[in-house]
Amino acid sequence: MTRSQNNFPIEERYDLRLITTFIPNKRYPVYNWFYFKEGFSRDFVEYAISLLGYKPRVILDPFVGVGTTLLYAREKGYHSIGVDASPLMVLVSKVKTRDYNIKSLREEAQKIFRVRFRKPNLSNISSFVKQFFNKYVLEDIVFFNELVDSIEDEKIRNFFKVGLICSSSKVSYAYRDGSVLRVVKKNTPPFRKFFKRFIRKMIKDLEKVKFISPEPEVRVGDARRLDFLKDSSVDAVITSPPYLNKIEYTKVYRIEYELFLRGEEPNLLRSFIGLSKVEEDEADSSMPPVARAYFKDMRLVLREVKRVLSEDKKAIFLLAGGVFPTGVIESDIELSEMATDEGFSVEKIVALNKRVATRNRVEKIGWARESAVVLKT
Ligand SMILES: C[S@@+](CC[C@H](N)C(=O)[O-])C[C@H]1O[C@@H](n2cnc3c(N)ncnc32)[C@H](O)[C@@H]1O
Repeated sequence: MTRSQNNFPIEERYDLRLITTFIPNKRYPVYNWFYFKEGFSRDFVEYAISLLGYKPRVILDPFVGVGTTLLYAREKGYHSIGVDASPLMVLVSKVKTRDYNIKSLREEAQKIFRVRFRKPNLSNISSFVKQFFNKYVLEDIVFFNELVDSIEDEKIRNFFKVGLICSSSKVSYAYRDGSVLRVVKKNTPPFRKFFKRFIRKMIKDLEKVKFISPEPEVRVGDARRLDFLKDSSVDAVITSPPYLNKIEYTKVYRIEYELFLRGEEPNLLRSFIGLSKVEEDEADSSMPPVARAYFKDMRLVLREVKRVLSEDKKAIFLLAGGVFPTGVIESDIELSEMATDEGFSVEKIVALNKRVATRNRVEKIGWARESAVVLKT
């Protein structure tokens, strides 16, 4: 264990680097339904719970993403609550963490895949979306989406909707490159077969997981304002906010919103942390304005987390340093300083990964660390 300049204890566990990524989830049923590059793994949640050092009653993840914290909590018998600003993420998290009647899912699948293809009307699909699909594949997707929308039971409808979203992303030409969607053409399999196989896999996966605790509460919301939660109502927080300077990925779900969740697209500037503009008079600090906006929001998040966490309990934040032409901003240290101001004590910072930080892609200017910050109320 070393100490930072400001005396925060730092433990290096670079051997655990992989758990901060989504990669280990690929081998876990249900966890792997929606590939989320910015997500962490089931193994990270397991490790975070070991860092708590007590058995939590209710775990909150205020940046829940695709629901990995909640899934693990359900498997291990902890109650949990998830919040995310993105309706797409909330839909995915919900669908992964519900109880289903498998027989009804199988019957619905049979019904859907029995319907003969009818050419749908693509006139209200934008040319932006059209460029990412083979024409016949897109017709199939829109055809199935109409069928899925007509399913009466909300739980079953959402299940098929997520299956459709995952299957479509696998056959699309969209390649997510940071905040940009690029067209990368490839051979695509017949969609009907592909979708059918994916739904079959989802149903099989449900038979492999065993949930102990009840369905978690998952809702669209803002981690800066958790009004629906009473003071001291949770006893652990395990979460990973958007990373400093890597927030733009929230914009790459335009295809999903246009095709499957029309009208539900979040107002990014209002809903997502770190995207609001800082006032002119605040922009004179040593930090770039984007970093100021980010930490201003993270302070509000810390304050809310402090309010809803009961006494003597822990919050674990996974986050990474931000690389700017002026140098690396150590997010773990910044967060620890703010947390101290807000009345937390910093138990330790566990450094889990580090990447070379460069200026103009060649000149090395330091290391950007990815760490779990362990805070105590
Ligand atoms: C790094 S991801 C979380 C990944 C998650 N740990 C997982 O494994 O799926 C950050 C998430 O924060 C969400 N987000 C951004 N601003 C938010 C806000 N103000 N309140 C709640 N969620 C927000 C994004 O939609 C994104 O899903």
